[in-house]
Amino acid sequence: MKKKVLILGSGGREHAMAWAFANDDNVSKVYCAPGNGGTSKIAENITINLANRQEILRLAQEKKIDLTVVGPENPLASGIVDSFQKEGLRIFGPDAYGAQLESSKLFARNLMAEKKILQPSFYSCNTRDEIESLKVILELPLVLKADGLAAGKGVIVCETDEEFEKALKTIFEDGEFGEAARRISLERCLVGEELSVFAVCDGKNFIILNTAQDHKRAFDGDSGPNTGGMGAYSPTPLSTPGLIDRVGVEIIQPTLDAMKDRGHPYTGFLYVGLMIVDGDPYVIEFNVRMGDPETQVVLPLLESSLLELLWDATEGNLNKSKVAVSSKVAVTVVLAADGYPGKYEKGMKIKGLEKVQDRLVFHAGTLQKDHDIISNGGRILNVVGFGKDLKSAIDDAYDIAKSIEFSGKYYRKDIGKRGMQYLKKGSKK
Ligand code: AMP
Ligand code: GLY
Repeated sequence: MKKKVLILGSGGREHAMAWAFANDDNVSKVYCAPGNGGTSKIAENITINLANRQEILRLAQEKKIDLTVVGPENPLASGIVDSFQKEGLRIFGPDAYGAQLESSKLFARNLMAEKKILQPSFYSCNTRDEIESLKVILELPLVLKADGLAAGKGVIVCETDEEFEKALKTIFEDGEFGEAARRISLERCLVGEELSVFAVCDGKNFIILNTAQDHKRAFDGDSGPNTGGMGAYSPTPLSTPGLIDRVGVEIIQPTLDAMKDRGHPYTGFLYVGLMIVDGDPYVIEFNVRMGDPETQVVLPLLESSLLELLWDATEGNLNKSKVAVSSKVAVTVVLAADGYPGKYEKGMKIKGLEKVQDRLVFHAGTLQKDHDIISNGGRILNVVGFGKDLKSAIDDAYDIAKSIEFSGKYYRKDIGKRGMQYLKKGSKK
């Protein structure tokens, strides 16, 4: 029987999920809560406060939802899965205990240490004095991470004394990360190539969906402030089958084993953020959800049913599942509002979407107002290009990016360039 699916969240990631479900023969209806201007075209949006678990539960019961999928980390960290399970409702994601892999950097680091998973050496710190004393011993560069959730902003890489002092001021004087910085993970700074691996887990087994590389800085050449992500491509040339096997055997499986041993088998997406150092995969971070904008390239390359895959995962049956992944490359470029990630305007009318109706454009910060789509956030749209190789996928994505207009449109012009550089380096070996 076809299933009704509810997606929680409102970004480009959730539009990509809604698109995958809307094109899935196993799905009868897709709801998004709260969704955005893009999801309103392919699913039913329902206004909801994601912080209110009771409201979400009621919605799932009223609409007789068969499977709920959680986009962002906050509802997971605050126990939405625990609430659903208590009511016997099916939801895909880890419980609050499992979500600590993302909501507490030190929980994740300690678990990795227990399982001897490759990671940078780290020190759990509570005070400024502790951090300053350790700096004298360890020396820069070092990374300071707020232990808790800080909307993706809680990591400061310190290469110079000035950066280190500024980071301490941000944390201890300005209190910018609030409660999230009650404990700090002080880490050795790793130097290498970054790569993200996305897996679906069922408590015991896992299936790797694909790899991707995000572009976190606001401006070209990886300069400017950190953002939620300005573009991504999938797969990355760094991801050889040998490396991916190692990530499965040396990182994902031991993590699942540890969670099972602790009485909280981990079901959900697992996003493994890696630094490849001399060919070895070190874990920079775990996230307990899909990435945004990485989902916008990973899901369009999935050729098999997302519903079947996530259903099997909630049944603990991934050992019997298979996924089919396209051999193409996908690139997404984020069209943002001028000023993002700082101050930016909202309410700009978006023009040109009708010209690219046959192309893939995921909405992030948009809403439908009368007959118009207007901007409602910093990251506004994600255009997705495809190709038989990275170069043609990049060209395809930028072709779409040029066709869409809104006042203050800003986007990076070099998404995928680093991937092209790896390919060149590889071909010279
Ligand atoms: P996150 O918000 O945890 O994704 O971290 C932001 C960025 O900080 C990562 O994408 C890395 O580029 C960098 N980073 C985090 N931890 C480390 C580390 N231990 N060594 C080097 N870079 C790091
Ligand atoms: N794009 C990075 C993230 O979703 O955490």
